[in-house]
Amino acid sequence: MQVEEIKKICVLGCGNMGSQIALNAAIHGFEVVNMDVKEEMVAKAAAFAEQYLPGRVKKGRLTEDQARAAASRISHTTDLEKAARGADFVIEAVLERLELKRQVFRELDRICPPHSVLATNSSFIVSSKIAGVTKRPEKVCNMHFFNPALVMELVEVVQGPHTSDETVTLTMELARKMGKTPVLLQKEVYGFLVNRILAALMDEAVWLADMKVATPEDIDTAVTKALGHPMGPFRLMDLTGIDLHYDIAMEQYRETGDPKHKPSPLIVEKVVKGEHGRKTGKGWYEYKE
Ligand code: 3HC
Repeated sequence: MQVEEIKKICVLGCGNMGSQIALNAAIHGFEVVNMDVKEEMVAKAAAFAEQYLPGRVKKGRLTEDQARAAASRISHTTDLEKAARGADFVIEAVLERLELKRQVFRELDRICPPHSVLATNSSFIVSSKIAGVTKRPEKVCNMHFFNPALVMELVEVVQGPHTSDETVTLTMELARKMGKTPVLLQKEVYGFLVNRILAALMDEAVWLADMKVATPEDIDTAVTKALGHPMGPFRLMDLTGIDLHYDIAMEQYRETGDPKHKPSPLIVEKVVKGEHGRKTGKGWYEYKE
């Protein structure tokens, strides 16, 4: 399949990542169905699209026609059959639970046409752990976006041992058509490129806070003012989710058995208290909305 033949994209998961990936695809000319099992997530994603597009017009980033066309190309549903039927390309962005992803891919394999590529946006689960439940492992890969997905340019495309070169080329082309810059990982590695680098930074930042060397605020100031990062590691954790940071660390700990990968007590405390970052109104910082 050529990238020009991709007309319909199905994005599974109406969370922060799924809803922004879907909207980004609609803005770039694709017909998109964004699906979630939870009604309230579907409603939230639809409401986000409804307020985001006029906001882009007001800011002069889109014309009224472009915003109207994007709005007409995106729909939201709780019906997986409807979302996946006839989809040329699927981007799965459901919760980071391996069994859930395997179940979703089994269903996708049954519903989607034989030519469809099934990609996962997982932050750390490699597609070789999922591809085996489908009859098309050569069409399964990782396509990893970054938060906020409407803004961040990078997409990591990861080729598993089962992924064909054709699937990789198509996924890279699709990322470009979605206005992104793809990089290719020629083999699977835990955490891919960015999350490996980011984890090293965040672990160090949490260790410094844990040792009471400096407050999270001052560590963030140090990183933004000295290293030129757009936001410090604590504010970034609030954006991506402290619960996700915990999941990634736990998964890495399970893989390596190395105690240095175990999430710090500070992180565990935040997760237990339900202070997961922006999405819960509180993480390292407080958020009014
Ligand atoms: N959703 C959508 N768009 C957003 C946004 C959001 N949550 N936050 C900001 N934006 C947009 C704004 O609308 C604005 O767009 P415009 O310039 O076209 O009008 C642009 O981003 C800049 O926004 P602001 O001026 O309000 O704020 P900043 O200049 O501080 O930028 C930021 C905000 C883009 C989030 C910037 O701070 C940043 O780049 N932070 C680092 C983000 C990062 O590192 N992401 C990677 C995380 S790791 C990850 O995702 C991996 C995963 O596996 C966990």
